[in-house]
Amino acid sequence: MSGSVIAIDGPAASGKSSTARAVAQALGFQHLDSGALYRGVTLVALREAADRGAAPAPPPGAPAHAHLAGPDPLRVVDAETILRAAEDWGLRLLPDGHGFTAYLQGEPVDAAIRSPKVTAHVSAVSALPVIREWVNIHLRATVRAGMDVVVDGRDIGTVVFPDALLKIFLTASPEARAGRRLVQRGSPTDPGTLAEEATLLAARDRADSTRAVAPLRRADDAIDLDTTNLSFTEQVARIVSLARNRLPGYT
Ligand code: CDP
Repeated sequence: MSGSVIAIDGPAASGKSSTARAVAQALGFQHLDSGALYRGVTLVALREAADRGAAPAPPPGAPAHAHLAGPDPLRVVDAETILRAAEDWGLRLLPDGHGFTAYLQGEPVDAAIRSPKVTAHVSAVSALPVIREWVNIHLRATVRAGMDVVVDGRDIGTVVFPDALLKIFLTASPEARAGRRLVQRGSPTDPGTLAEEATLLAARDRADSTRAVAPLRRADDAIDLDTTNLSFTEQVARIVSLARNRLPGYT
């Protein structure tokens, strides 16, 4: 029997992953982070591109952050090559007690998949339809195996699990999102750094919302939750309460 799904979608750094993990823990569900798989595939693409000697960094005068974007891995590796490498190198999410951790070549890659370089390339890699299909197969297999999950991402309520028990669209103001991401990373939160981070988040949101396949979009039947002025405990409690009202056996 398939497990129950709670879908949490929303823009970059809206707190989806940390919220999803806490909601899962409160309900006895597992947290499934779809972004971790897209980030893992992007790490594979970058390593594969480096092995193939990708082109040099952008010239002087290139836009800010171009040094992070660096050589475009998609110029030297296509989607099929990336997926073959992901299979060969054993990219997978393995259970860690509360959810799943990404592994590559038998090693946890939690930090590597959240590097600025992976973040700069993940939207381009995740716009490729065959890569989305590959990720979706892995996500759906987990639920078909009978696991109850809280899944966070961009297209979970619209495409991956349209029949989810509960769909949340999590948002927060750009300033709040940038500030939270810097604190999470242990970076300074001065106005300049904040503005720079907000620009990076906005660029990723634009790329994720305007792509042709499975763009970031609120599902028609999703419940909006703006967390700008909510504490973490409050936002988790609201979702847990909404979920309990829908879960058989809880009411
Ligand atoms: O944590 P953060 O909000 O920064 O991003 P994430 O959830 O780790 O997702 C990283 C990237 O993966 C996103 O910017 C999207 O490009 C892509 N993604 C996607 O396309 N579809 C999903 N369901 C999840 C992530």
